[in-house]
Amino acid sequence: MTGPAMDFTGKTVLVVGGSSGIGNGIAQGFRAAGAAVHVWGTRASATDYAGEDGSDLHGLGYSQVDVSSAQAIADAPAPFDRLDVLVLSQGIVLYKRQEFEAPGWDRVMAVNLDSVMHVAQRFHGMLKAAGGSAIVVSSVAAYRATMGNPAYAASKAAAVALVRTLGQAWAADGIRVNGFAPSIVDTKLTRVTTRHPERSEKALAKIPLGRFGTIEEMAGVALFLASPLAGYVVGQTIVVDGGLTL
Ligand SMILES: NC(=O)c1ccc[n+]([C@@H]2O[C@H](COP(=O)([O-])OP(=O)(O)OC[C@H]3O[C@@H](n4cnc5c(N)ncnc54)[C@H](OP(=O)(O)O)[C@@H]3O)[C@@H](O)[C@H]2O)c1
Repeated sequence: MTGPAMDFTGKTVLVVGGSSGIGNGIAQGFRAAGAAVHVWGTRASATDYAGEDGSDLHGLGYSQVDVSSAQAIADAPAPFDRLDVLVLSQGIVLYKRQEFEAPGWDRVMAVNLDSVMHVAQRFHGMLKAAGGSAIVVSSVAAYRATMGNPAYAASKAAAVALVRTLGQAWAADGIRVNGFAPSIVDTKLTRVTTRHPERSEKALAKIPLGRFGTIEEMAGVALFLASPLAGYVVGQTIVVDGGLTL
């Protein structure tokens, strides 16, 4: 992944949910491509992620922002004066039928959907000034029933719809809004499956490529979407699922 199209030198990137997993891989991908990268996560400081599997905060700026609160998003520090790329990779899932009850439903919708809109709106001005782009991490759960997780599935379907609508609304401002929808990547969100031999085997049997996606593969799609190579791509969510939904 080299060449001028993938050179983000001089660009500033904010990755919400960049403290872990896919978002962290995206943050490190942009950093390796020359960008100044800032991430948001839930813990008090970057050092609170030290030694955590899937959390490499080396070389990244960090702020604690609980995006389940619209007020926290409005008040969040933005220690940069321009923003070229906004990545929205925050996400949670709740098990044991918690998403069927109002508190669980509300929490998942607040983190996975409401915050996507609120953070995007918060940085609309900076993205417009830079002619930048926003990238929303959705899920194949947007397109299929997700056993036991109604809020997760609904939030991801809504995120796909939001990408379309913001893509249309902000294209005239010079902002490209796109997203991608992974199937399964080994992160703390999915360890309940990926690190469980039987569940993992069952899941892999449904994926034509016969393996889980890697964090680097997700980062590659995010970099592509933010790059001039995707300059005419607007409002799309790219399915990155090893063939699962085929
Ligand atoms: N892994 C997969 O197979 C998969 C598949 C499809 C879609 N996705 C989507 O990919 C995105 C990233 O998930 P992941 O798999 O990388 O999981 P992850 O490692 O758990 O990362 C989730 C990120 O969201 C942040 N976050 C959660 N609640 C938050 C809150 N209230 N305020 C601020 N940040 C919050 C987490 O912060 P902390 O680090 O502080 O917890 C973390 O940075 C999610 O949108 C997920 O739905 C993942």
